[in-house]
Amino acid sequence: MTFGRKFYEPLADGAPKPKSEINNDLERVIHFFPPHLKKVTDKLDEISKKSDVILGNLEDGISPKDKIKARKEFVKKSKKINLRNTGLWTRVNAISSEWFLDDISFLIKELGNTLDVIMLPMINTPEEILFADRIIALNEAQNKLKKQVKIHIILETAEGVMNVESLAACSPRLHGFSLGPADLAASRGMKTVRVGGSHPDYGILSDPKDKTTKRKFIQQDLWHYSLSKMIDACASNNIKAFFGPYGDFDDAEGCEIQFRNAFILGCHGAWSLHPSQIDIAKKVFCPSEDEVEKAAKIIKAMGDGTGAVKVDGKMQDEATVKQANVIIELAKKIRKKDPKLSKSFSKYLT
Ligand code: GLV
Ligand code: MG
Repeated sequence: MTFGRKFYEPLADGAPKPKSEINNDLERVIHFFPPHLKKVTDKLDEISKKSDVILGNLEDGISPKDKIKARKEFVKKSKKINLRNTGLWTRVNAISSEWFLDDISFLIKELGNTLDVIMLPMINTPEEILFADRIIALNEAQNKLKKQVKIHIILETAEGVMNVESLAACSPRLHGFSLGPADLAASRGMKTVRVGGSHPDYGILSDPKDKTTKRKFIQQDLWHYSLSKMIDACASNNIKAFFGPYGDFDDAEGCEIQFRNAFILGCHGAWSLHPSQIDIAKKVFCPSEDEVEKAAKIIKAMGDGTGAVKVDGKMQDEATVKQANVIIELAKKIRKKDPKLSKSFSKYLT
């Protein structure tokens, strides 16, 4: 355990210092791409204009024979692309894999000054995060980087979920967490073969009325418990929470609902595995005109923000002003970055 201010000391001599403030970038969508597939990367410039973050994937989905090519191509493409204000992330291979050390040293050497975040899969314990943290720090020092590359954890094992409170508190290099429903399902022994989403047989029956009325089956959300636990761990450490993948690209409606649950619960964004999911995430991780109007009305009616008032027949007080401010702050960030999307609610913002 590191004590007090030592928590913010770099883990290698000469490595950059971590920042203590939260990353305030608008990150509604992290778009994954396979760097070695030309037909995908040919469209990367266009995609990066639309997405808040683009992420070169080196882990699952890239077969062992393509791992090194994907790593090299990610560097090549990243050097060429005009990122403007789009974030550049990568998902490296697991810390226990034969590729991890070379992934880190090559990427930090070649892209250290442009790479914002390294996503770490299959993390179970704080020790594993600190191991990666130290390796990254050593490489940052060797390459004389001025700014830390952040790490983002995928919560995708039962052990990780059990440890999430200590994982989220263990390093000042942490950017945030994403829930990884596919690996988590396998790790827990869930009886599914899906990437996110629910299951038609997971639900409850409405109460029986009488012998003749058919009871209603109501499908339930498989991820509520883990996602809520992860969001609390992130929020209490001032880092960000995200929903991970929704694998059924043809089910835009299901994807929208999954992302909306995450948005309402407190997530900042979600992954997109197909270009069609970028717009879904941008639509969902954005308050509606009604929500912005209502939030602005509450703030105005509450004046100095203390006491209690009635707005449209409902009691409002300090706590609802705080909630309203969450919505207004997000709306302002969206107006700044995406004026077109914020057209309908801009009139309620100062
Ligand atoms: C993501 O990596 C997942 O396993 O869902
Ligand atoms: Mg996974």
